[in-house]
Amino acid sequence: MTTLIDKLQWRYATKKMNPALRVPQDKLDRILEAVRLTATSSGLQPYEVLVVNDPALRERIRPHAWNQAQVTEASHLLVFAAWDNYTVDRINQMFDLTNEQRGFKNEGWEAYRQKLLAMYPQRSAEENYQHAARQAYIGLGTALIAAAEEQVDATPMEGFDPAAVDEILGLKAHGLRSVLLLPLGYRQVEGDWLVNLKKVRRPKDDFVTEV
Ligand SMILES: Cc1cc2nc3c(=O)[nH]c(=O)nc-3n(C[C@H](O)[C@H](O)[C@H](O)COP(=O)(O)O)c2cc1C
Repeated sequence: MTTLIDKLQWRYATKKMNPALRVPQDKLDRILEAVRLTATSSGLQPYEVLVVNDPALRERIRPHAWNQAQVTEASHLLVFAAWDNYTVDRINQMFDLTNEQRGFKNEGWEAYRQKLLAMYPQRSAEENYQHAARQAYIGLGTALIAAAEEQVDATPMEGFDPAAVDEILGLKAHGLRSVLLLPLGYRQVEGDWLVNLKKVRRPKDDFVTEV
């Protein structure tokens, strides 16, 4: 398995993880780093990734995630949690960080900051959360590709009750709302109904249009 396409053929939304197998720390770190490096709208990175290590927390989450076994049986459980709103502070922090790291202020960039400040904080928190959540989905996509690259199995999940997960993880106090779960681990071939089934995708002609 050498090409990225081979690895994307190999990956699938794993239904049964082997609880005895742990993803090595360096692989986990590279998957998280890929997410940190991926693109977000205006570079605001309006979400965070929680690595839920506490088994008791994972036990509590599972019944609120359609009782999906991967929540407790995977090696690691990632939670993608988006900002509940775009505030002046949050926008300024990202622009200030950029100026600090690049070591200069740029007129065009500052004008862009003012444009966002005039736009985002005026919108409803829900509209801003929805926009932030879309950025978290880009992170999920990147994590799926990075996991495949590391030959680590993953199950993207939106089958859970976000309000319950927010409560369990105390996300509201941090201005965050859970968007997606991503168990990472290694497939347990016995007991996984999906593992040997053909990957089904629409043919390219139905999917890509050249105009
Ligand atoms: C945003 C998103 C949410 C998903 N939620 C779940 C889920 O809660 N449980 C699950 O078993 N699979 C879930 N899936 C997996 C999809 O069903 C799966 O990716 C799709 O059928 C394509 O198959 P493959 O990923 O195995 O190639 C989700 C996938 C995505 C992208």
